Amino acid sequence: MTQATLSQDQLKEAVAAAAIDEVRPHLHRDSVLGIGTGSTANRFIDRLAELRHDFAGAVASSEASAERLRSHGIEVFELNSVGTVPVYVDGADEVNAHLHMIKGGGAALTREKIVAACAERFICIADGSKKVERLGAFPLPVEVIPMARSYVARELVKLGADPVYREGVVTDNGNQIIDCYDFMIDDPLAMEARLNAIVGVVTNGLFAARGADVLLLGTAGGVERLT
Ligand code: 5RP
Repeated sequence: MTQATLSQDQLKEAVAAAAIDEVRPHLHRDSVLGIGTGSTANRFIDRLAELRHDFAGAVASSEASAERLRSHGIEVFELNSVGTVPVYVDGADEVNAHLHMIKGGGAALTREKIVAACAERFICIADGSKKVERLGAFPLPVEVIPMARSYVARELVKLGADPVYREGVVTDNGNQIIDCYDFMIDDPLAMEARLNAIVGVVTNGLFAARGADVLLLGTAGGVERLT
């Protein structure tokens, strides 16, 4: 099969493999890696399993990833018992040229942001469809305290978004998700701060204040490495 015919799944496999090479220098007996959530992160976890004896373990950005790590015999640590995390590997729903991202399609945005905040290096792994000029075609997730949901939705309308409650989804933190449709974002840094200032918002899926340090992007021509 030629590279031009690679499927999205194959592109995810390719970036997961490339991420292994990125984390290799950080693997030693005491290192605890940060691990993200989603189908691309899952592929990375599956590959990391082969190296499980080369590092201490991982902190996970979701219960689902923690379970997958444990199923491979990788020890999962509480973040509070770990200092800084040398490297965090995670996917994205959208990423721009500045390596700002929209994340949270899998509802794990808050824990993802917390682990990313503790990480010395954030490696984003994504297939080429995730790279955009301007963030916002993917509906921006906002995690809210349940009793604040309607209030936050009204505030989001004032900012120009079309907020839609993600029914049936409860985050690992016991909260709810509102997805902001029709919300193109010109200034991700400013909008991230603006949304976080709404009372009742736990966090939002803009990762601009702490974007990625490295983007491994799966394209028909191979894995591109952007910094
Ligand atoms: C989960 C996320 C994921 O990183 C994002 O949704 C990308 O997922 P996938 O790798 O399945 O395309 O932010 O909350």
